[in-house]
Amino acid sequence: MGPEALAQVLRPLRDLFKKKDLYFILNSEIPSWCMLDERGYTIFQHCTGENTLDDIYAKVQPVSHDQFLNIIRYLRKSLIISFDSPHFEGISVKMPALPFLTNIYFEITSRCNLNCIHCDVNAGKSRGKEVSLEKIKECIDYLVESKGVSIYLSGGEPLVRKGWDHLLEYALTKGLRTIVATNGTLINDNVADIFAQHKNKKLVVQISLDSTKKEVNDLIRGKDAFDRTIKGIEHLLDRGMGKNVRISFTANKYNVSDVKAMVDFCLEKKIGEIIFSKVYKQGRAAAVWDTIGLSLKEAITFQKFVFNTRKRLKGTLEVLEIEDKAAPAVGTKVRICNMGQEPRIDSCGNVYPCQLFDGEDAIIGNINNDSLQSIREGEPFYNIRKKICERIDTIFKCKSCIWKNICAAGCAATAHFVYGDYTALDPMCDFCTWWHEYLIVERINQVGLYHIHYC
Ligand SMILES: C[S@@+](CC[C@H](N)C(=O)[O-])C[C@H]1O[C@@H](n2cnc3c(N)ncnc32)[C@H](O)[C@@H]1O
Ligand code: SF4
Ligand code: SF4
Repeated sequence: MGPEALAQVLRPLRDLFKKKDLYFILNSEIPSWCMLDERGYTIFQHCTGENTLDDIYAKVQPVSHDQFLNIIRYLRKSLIISFDSPHFEGISVKMPALPFLTNIYFEITSRCNLNCIHCDVNAGKSRGKEVSLEKIKECIDYLVESKGVSIYLSGGEPLVRKGWDHLLEYALTKGLRTIVATNGTLINDNVADIFAQHKNKKLVVQISLDSTKKEVNDLIRGKDAFDRTIKGIEHLLDRGMGKNVRISFTANKYNVSDVKAMVDFCLEKKIGEIIFSKVYKQGRAAAVWDTIGLSLKEAITFQKFVFNTRKRLKGTLEVLEIEDKAAPAVGTKVRICNMGQEPRIDSCGNVYPCQLFDGEDAIIGNINNDSLQSIREGEPFYNIRKKICERIDTIFKCKSCIWKNICAAGCAATAHFVYGDYTALDPMCDFCTWWHEYLIVERINQVGLYHIHYC
């Protein structure tokens, strides 16, 4: 650092809080953050914009010049202080360009042979004419052209839809990772044989199992669901398909304490993946929310378990979580909602911005009337995205929140299904606040102090 730089003032841009003996400094505008010990914090405090580097160095003795400069460089690289350079200032998460299409959640039917108490899509009976297999295939073609990587064939219960196997084969042949999201109760020998034909392709059979205890699972999923689902899983395991199986566990008040047993079950059965989510107040779950909704404390305990289990079992059991999408990790990347990347298409062909959106006012088009490409690029979707992106500047609480550019005002879809308004505050704001802080501290534990921590 030459004398010129020394003459420049340092301009602090920060918000902070202290945890244990460490100081957490956040530049919420970029956003970027860093963690300092006592010595680093003393140096940082002198970065008031009125001191040159020489002035600061003189004030913070004893510290070697090298150590001093290392800390200064670290603060600068972390974008916490600047030397009169406007380069990094004023950056904010504004409306991003339409993201590439990577995945489609396709509900190929709304019919279901079960009647789970929490079902977010109110599955059961048919809701009218199901979108044709041809139209679904057109969407698959477009997904492939767009260099998308995966598709969910879901429902309702996808295995009740005639032609599901044809779609599976079509998507796999096109090279897509194809995830059949099923309750597993209809996987008999014949169905298992169909799956087994594809076991060496990018096939995931995602099977919902909400407890290792029959009585708990059946309280959620209905009488005998447990035995039938286990039988379905066994059929696949008998065919050497453990690596193709993913268990889906949706935590609610009844089953949240079974989460560890479920992981042990997967390990014992040599199942490849498990995906966790917390129950959302959506669909049928809304009517029984007081009985099944997780408290903040339960949600936090659950999230910590999932997070740590994932680290612990890396390479043995792949642990996925919906929260990856709902609140991408601070410390890894800025949260930019993946809206547009992974649309949901319901059984009637209605397209929604993402998997969690539902309701008439969230429909951005219908594939029976328009191509998926024109729907993605059309005005209804643009208008919804714009309003959602503006939330960080319009929601009172978010405007002054230190997490705002990391959190991007939380999940708009959740606000929509709870309040009927996607411009409202994320009802899980308290959870978001906890999660951002938790991930930062975890990240520090991973990389240690005085490393660069761009979000
Ligand atoms: C709607 S189901 C459709 C596929 C299939 N019938 C099944 O049960 O897996 C897809 C996943 O969504 C989960 N799910 C249902 N209702 C939910 C809710 N209210 N909140 C979060 N996840 C929910 C299910 O447990 C299941 O794992
Ligand atoms: S969660 Fe799945 S199995 Fe249960 S009712 Fe909904 S669609 Fe059917
Ligand atoms: S949702 Fe909550 S945590 Fe996220 S920016 Fe808004 S106020 Fe902050």
